[in-house]
Amino acid sequence: MYQIICVVGARPNFMKIAPIIEALKQTEGYLMPFLVHTGQHYDQAMKASFFEQLGIPEPDIDLNVGSGSHAWQTAQIMIQFEQVLDQQQPQAVLVVGDVNSTIACALVAVKKHIPVVHVEAGLRSFDRQMPEEINRVLTDQISSLLLTTEAHAKQHLLQEGIQSDAIHFVGNVMIDTLLKNQQRCPSLTDINQGYQLNLSSGHYGLLTLHRPSNVDHSDVLADLFTTMISISEKLPLVFPVHPRTQAKLSAGFCQSENIFMLPPVAYLDMLALMSSAKLVLTDSGGIQEETTALGIPCVTLRENTERPITVTEGTNTIVGTDSQKILATVADILSTGGKQGQIPKYWDGHAAERIVAVLKDWISQ
Ligand code: UD1
Repeated sequence: MYQIICVVGARPNFMKIAPIIEALKQTEGYLMPFLVHTGQHYDQAMKASFFEQLGIPEPDIDLNVGSGSHAWQTAQIMIQFEQVLDQQQPQAVLVVGDVNSTIACALVAVKKHIPVVHVEAGLRSFDRQMPEEINRVLTDQISSLLLTTEAHAKQHLLQEGIQSDAIHFVGNVMIDTLLKNQQRCPSLTDINQGYQLNLSSGHYGLLTLHRPSNVDHSDVLADLFTTMISISEKLPLVFPVHPRTQAKLSAGFCQSENIFMLPPVAYLDMLALMSSAKLVLTDSGGIQEETTALGIPCVTLRENTERPITVTEGTNTIVGTDSQKILATVADILSTGGKQGQIPKYWDGHAAERIVAVLKDWISQ
């Protein structure tokens, strides 16, 4: 029996860990998951609803770290996670994605000579202004097993000096979760009732914004909103607002009767909202992948992406924050229907099974 500590911290981690925990449990005690939640995200809307809906077991330990500066948050996680490792003495620590919890726990583990397994390795935006890019590069450098979601991620890792035999292309666990839950998500009628909306399928856009580069500067955010208001005159927009963005919004933003602001929505509601949208406008990483899997055009409000396969094979278009470019891309989607895309290799619902197969081989060596 080998214990694998699985770490989650922030909202996008929950969809990734759910199928991995389930697949580890299928090994009937050979690989034993021990779930640690750092508490980076803690609101009901950012955490509990995801655990319930995705059937993730209660964490074995919740570090309850909460919000703070990058240094403070990372340090708090590290201090507390060290104690967990001392108590549990696991055979490996498995981290997902690129959030502060990912690098914090990986760094503690490697210094204790506990091997780190990184799920979603090798993605690069090549933009080191993004905190996530720092987290990705550093986590990959200290991982023993690097599991990738798209084939060319391997090239980035090889260029950074990672040994080829440590890298395994396993596919996308976030899409495992999407495919498993697609039939369970509410109908648009349920969504309309639940949120007092009047949406009709294919006749609205979905908007999400939370990147510091977009929301932390009021002039950038104000310009983006002006653009969103002009889009909403042609296509009503539904906008679940992330707490980071909520904190930045002040009176004067979002003065449009066609932009419907909601609190952060639970996973299944988000899946329903994405599935019936004409298009999605976002600065999220995961949503670029989910829209590709769903075949819904995605307009990414960032200058770059660490997930280029969503552009080359999927439905994604990178437009940045320039108003003219955003409006032209939306106009094109409204008149032509936008990119249809195809499903990338191994985004097939079986990534977690592949991860467990790789883990079994690796741990028994
Ligand atoms: C974090 C991740 C980001 C990911 C995003 C998904 C890092 C560096 N960033 O960004 O990669 O895309 O999660 O949501 O790890 N807050 C609440 N309630 C919560 C959590 C946060 O109100 O449950 C508020 C706090 O004011 C906090 C702010 O949101 O200061 C930002 O939270 P934080 O976890 O630091 O970063 P995110 O922007 O959520």
